[in-house]
Amino acid sequence: MSWKIFLGNIVTSSKINELNAFSGYVVVKDGQINGVGKLVDLEQKYKDFDTECEVIHLLPHQFLMPGFVDCHTHAPQFPNIGLGLDLPLLQWLDKYTFPLEKKYEDTQFAAQVYDKVVRRLLDNGTTTACYFGSLHSEGTVELAKSALKHKQRAFIGKVSMDVKNDTGYYNNTQDELIQVKMFIEKIKSFQNDLVKPIITPRFALSCGGELMKGLAELAHQYMCPIQTHVSENQKEIEAVLAMFPDCSSYSEVYDRCDILKHRCILAHGVWLSDAELALLVSRRAAVAHCPASNTRLRSGLCPVRRLLDHGVTVGLGTDVSGGDSASILDAMRRAMDVSTHLEMLTAGERALDWREVFYLATRGGAEALSMDSNGSFESSFDFDALVVDVYTDGQVDKFDYPPASGEEYILQLLQKFIYVGDDRNIVHVYVKGEKVKDVNHLEKKVATLQSVIKNLTGR
Ligand code: GUN
Ligand code: FE
Repeated sequence: MSWKIFLGNIVTSSKINELNAFSGYVVVKDGQINGVGKLVDLEQKYKDFDTECEVIHLLPHQFLMPGFVDCHTHAPQFPNIGLGLDLPLLQWLDKYTFPLEKKYEDTQFAAQVYDKVVRRLLDNGTTTACYFGSLHSEGTVELAKSALKHKQRAFIGKVSMDVKNDTGYYNNTQDELIQVKMFIEKIKSFQNDLVKPIITPRFALSCGGELMKGLAELAHQYMCPIQTHVSENQKEIEAVLAMFPDCSSYSEVYDRCDILKHRCILAHGVWLSDAELALLVSRRAAVAHCPASNTRLRSGLCPVRRLLDHGVTVGLGTDVSGGDSASILDAMRRAMDVSTHLEMLTAGERALDWREVFYLATRGGAEALSMDSNGSFESSFDFDALVVDVYTDGQVDKFDYPPASGEEYILQLLQKFIYVGDDRNIVHVYVKGEKVKDVNHLEKKVATLQSVIKNLTGR
């Protein structure tokens, strides 16, 4: 059995309107949180434990927080990151995205790219990623292998498409359904709960009704979640309604194919009507808000406050390479910016603040991916966490003025990180209790819980 205890500043959020920052402890047993609380309560809680554990003392300007959850990104599009952002969605897909994704027929190429993608995301503190792969099963299995190699928690989706395009990047409907079934079984055969399959119809313009219905049946059969895109761009919506003339909205297309009711996560949702929001809530479908991509592809300003007020579960996504950054920290800032722009443009809109985006980037994302025990520090949850060092080499300078103390000081560290920080401030990353990024080694100590308590209390 392995025990660890983290001592220092802790920040965690279990609800959007509730952020907890305190000087405390997190006790981890075999990758799961065994206890979390304020330092003053440690003695009472663990007085009968004489367990050997690894003791990790954070420095005064460091804090421990839950790992980031990226609810939507495209692993095969990373070679295009920062490129080809001069076209709106549908032309962008045809000109830049489908031709690149087609290259993942080459499994070796896939393996090389995916290794870098997973490493990049972990270095940015993404402990859980929900990935679109490509149309290719073998190539996408390489993505699962990379996640397992680097020990990232991941949902892996083999992309499904059966509508013709100029690139020739699609499959025949029946072949596609067989391949998805085999792909799910392959991912399950790894028997490692870090990686899970997710059924991935690209979007309504790439998938006919028969394919989508077949995929929904597979979701039911394998109890597998589903991810897709919805209502990202106005031209896209027009094309969807022309392709499915019996449906009165984009979301209804998915609903008629039974896509929405299987722990579904929908990227974007920029232009959803009130009726569509009500439909998503009734089907418990969630939205991955991807602010960087919505701006870069000029898709629109997603009214996240409105989505939340309707009761939709929302997480954040980087949506590379429509989005230009692999960082959820960046997505938090972009989400605040878009929301602030909407507040300035729209009377009555209230912008998301840094506490709210902290929730969306952690527990909110976990909820959007229907993960019951991830995204915040609670007993029996998986220990996926970041040690943030605000004053390591990076953008945040330390100024010599009297700092605040107690909770206010921790909240100042958090704000500096959210508004000014970057991946350099993320010095350690843990997934399921295992360290997967280690920048500057903290001194490793082993002691019994009793002696830790004795040291702290002086008794
Ligand atoms: N809609 C369908 N495919 C895609 C994609 O790859 N990226 C984005 N942003 N939207 C899409
Ligand atoms: Fe996307």
